[in-house]
Amino acid sequence: MNKIIIAIDGYSSCGKSTLAKGMAARLGYMYIDSGAMYRAVTLFFLRHQISLQDEEQVRKALNEINISFNAQNHTILNGEDVESEIRRMSVSNYVSQVSAIPIVRRAMVRQQQAMGRGKGIVMDGRDIGTVVFPEAELKIFLTADPEIRVQRRFDELKNKGIKSSLEEVRQNLRHRDHIDSTREDSPLLQAPDAVVIDNSNMAREEQLEYALELARSAGATTE
Ligand code: DC
Repeated sequence: MNKIIIAIDGYSSCGKSTLAKGMAARLGYMYIDSGAMYRAVTLFFLRHQISLQDEEQVRKALNEINISFNAQNHTILNGEDVESEIRRMSVSNYVSQVSAIPIVRRAMVRQQQAMGRGKGIVMDGRDIGTVVFPEAELKIFLTADPEIRVQRRFDELKNKGIKSSLEEVRQNLRHRDHIDSTREDSPLLQAPDAVVIDNSNMAREEQLEYALELARSAGATTE
């Protein structure tokens, strides 16, 4: 069985995790949500009131952070399941500032690369095809119409019982798109060898089958 690395990048709420989870399930691969790792760091910083301007404080805090994922793919921060807490607006509103800090990125990228050593992994994020796994056999860059993304994120939060308004979600996505794509360290960029999928008008199943076809062409064998 040939295993490959699949990198999925794109703006917030383009459906990256839905596609990544679907591919991982069908291929028998591990799924890693790299955004959840930055969210967990952000939650830790908020809880411990870490000043982002104080590099020494940030460095010390990073040494105290251990992130893993359990069998349900929930994010575990120092032994605590923080999956629902990291999706709250308080974290969403702060995560782009935290993830723009170079030493935060270096720490996360190192862990992410270690997770991919055995291949057979689907990872989604912003810099997976460009920085984390530039040698990935398959790179997908997902895009979708901005208003469709707002509605999707709004529905997702609602389903999770998190209160928000369409306008609040719209402002948050706009703000994060801007910071994520203009930051100096590893901005969101489309890798030159990435396949672009605009899923604005695509059904989930259609998108998944298309992406699996790309994975097979890139050398993945199914179990
Ligand atoms: O995928 P998400 O929306 O949960 O990601 C949360 C934030 O983390 C996003 O606004 C930018 C940052 N991020 C990043 O900088 N690099 C990644 N590989 C993944 C996420």
